[in-house]
Amino acid sequence: MEVSNVEQPLYMTEENSVEVVLARMKECSDPRFRMIMTSIIMHLHAVIKEIEPTQDEWYAAIHFLTQTGQTCTDTRQEWILLSDVLGVSMLVDTINNRKPSGATESTVLGPFHVSGAPERELGDNICLDGKGMPVVVSGRVTDTNGSPIAGATLDVWMANEDGFYDVQQPGIQPGMNLRGIFHSDADGRYWFRSARPQYYPIPGDGPVGRLLKLSGRHDLRPAHLHVIVTGLGYEPVVTHCFDRKSPYLDSDPVFGVKESLILDFEDHNDQERASQLGIGNPFATVTMDFVLVSSQLGSSPKTENVAR
Ligand SMILES: [Fe+2]
Repeated sequence: MEVSNVEQPLYMTEENSVEVVLARMKECSDPRFRMIMTSIIMHLHAVIKEIEPTQDEWYAAIHFLTQTGQTCTDTRQEWILLSDVLGVSMLVDTINNRKPSGATESTVLGPFHVSGAPERELGDNICLDGKGMPVVVSGRVTDTNGSPIAGATLDVWMANEDGFYDVQQPGIQPGMNLRGIFHSDADGRYWFRSARPQYYPIPGDGPVGRLLKLSGRHDLRPAHLHVIVTGLGYEPVVTHCFDRKSPYLDSDPVFGVKESLILDFEDHNDQERASQLGIGNPFATVTMDFVLVSSQLGSSPKTENVAR
């Protein structure tokens, strides 16, 4: 709805509510902000007119949002969690990562990424608490033509065997457990040792957990590890690697699963090879290749589509 210079009604009625609120923005000089606020006001008023909430229901909504903010700490981001379970994080991610066919698909960042993870050598073991089945993760980083990307950075993080990230259990898990930054070799290859990821619950003791319960939904994310892959001259990709054998792939509470990101973890019972790899037996292996898009090709957001 355009804010025109035609004389606008001054006072709000149920019928003209959008018109009256939008008219107050006629001095707004930022076109993008104005477009965003116009859209939000139009849709919000439409929702209210459809729901016709009681005063108590509206207060409950305000209380829910207040609690969401109050649940946030330095290590817990309830707002991101809310965005995630409503499917909004994935939608924003998808809009901003329209990639050519063959490129590694992105998925949600999630609330547990930490800047400044330690630099690791290829082959290092990032499982510092020694829990879980050992896994060897390896693969190659290439461009969309299949050429290797040397020196690509892989920022990896995952939950431990008990289903918690290190930042959720300070003093229980070693700091920087199951985190590390690796760099691909001259042939674009990398490998590291870790623990096989497990499915785990997203934080369920806050307002978002109550929202899920009321909605008849579970809070269990299928087993995955996170990685951000960057290379000089390429668009970074924020993604996951999911274990095909994990339950809940079809009902991820944050909608992060994509078919191309589901990989086969191979099980091994081979003491000799385990000893060579410096890990316990039995163990698993998984190959996780990444295809990055040149920055020149671009897959940036199409704001004209968002504006529709
Ligand atoms: Fe995760």
